[in-house]
Amino acid sequence: METLRLPLSPTDPDAETLARAAAVLRGGGLVAFPTETVYGLGANALDTAAVARIFDAKGRPANNPLIVHVGAEADLPRVVAAWPDSARRLACQFWPGPLTLVLPRGAEVPDIVTAGGPTVAVRMPAHPVAGALIRAAAVPLAAPSANRSGELSPTSADHVARGLSGRIDMILDAGPTQIGIESTVLDLSMNPPRLLRPGHVSRSEIEAIIGPIGVLDSTADTAGALPSPGLLGRHYAPRTPTECFTGSRERVRELLQKGEHVGWVTFVPDLQGAISVQMPRDPIEYAARMYAELHRLDQMGLARIVVEMPPDTDEWLAIRDRLKRATQSS
Ligand code: TXA
Ligand code: MG
Repeated sequence: METLRLPLSPTDPDAETLARAAAVLRGGGLVAFPTETVYGLGANALDTAAVARIFDAKGRPANNPLIVHVGAEADLPRVVAAWPDSARRLACQFWPGPLTLVLPRGAEVPDIVTAGGPTVAVRMPAHPVAGALIRAAAVPLAAPSANRSGELSPTSADHVARGLSGRIDMILDAGPTQIGIESTVLDLSMNPPRLLRPGHVSRSEIEAIIGPIGVLDSTADTAGALPSPGLLGRHYAPRTPTECFTGSRERVRELLQKGEHVGWVTFVPDLQGAISVQMPRDPIEYAARMYAELHRLDQMGLARIVVEMPPDTDEWLAIRDRLKRATQSS
């Protein structure tokens, strides 16, 4: 299949381009589009055959449920069976924006979206193109990140094309995304609510609105029931072998001495010989650049990528989570 790539303005998207993309979606096709976090791969969330094409294109395991994206709160009754006060207050504060809420699933949502489970993940994205596209399609959009399953998330149309060109109908190219890491996922179907995936909206920001929440420990042993298979194990990984260290300098020096061609992602790149990337010390700025830098290094034919692990503090939680999973062996 030929993948059509259409440019459009990130702030004032052209109605004709949106109408073309909406027609593809209404016809059961796949359109990659920008959100404020990463690019998503969208399909009509109410159309089982269309959603099946997402799993095919990504090579995604069928047991990993998808996030449903809505354009307005008026769409919610089609997607969720309950809208508790905690959801209302969080949406009021953080929507549109990078917070995904897991709630009891609405009757119209097909099994394939939720992996057969009783809950559905829903969010209202803040990117003007995402909002306008959902409204033009007039259906909620199931959209995982627009990458092959397990690989790095895409923060530009080039990243999407690298993984999915020839496998999807269309890419809407509105330039790089702003936030750069995937949304925070919060499970409101349990009491107390539980943070399933850390993201730009932090635990303390959520707790300021709804009180104490629990946190899924993705490094804990997984012998019990998996609350969300996609949130455990290896993910977000470059194709190049990638390692993460506190004190990565020694490791890079050792590899250089062995004559290895190494990429080094760090705060103070003070060794000669490595392909070094100097990262910002601010976690917001770091997140915005992280996937793009890893994509870039991944295309250089390096033997290895070494990443300096950022500090173990709350503000780095989401970034450390992604880096740990990029370097897990299974
Ligand atoms: O920022 C984002 O969230 C991006 C953009 C495109 O919106 N989307 C994204 O989707 O990251 P994806 O599929 O790559 O990650 C969604 C995560 C998965 O790990 C999945 O397991 C989890 O959300 N999830 C989806 N539905 C769930 C449910 N009903 N219960 C628990 N976890 C769920
Ligand atoms: Mg993903």
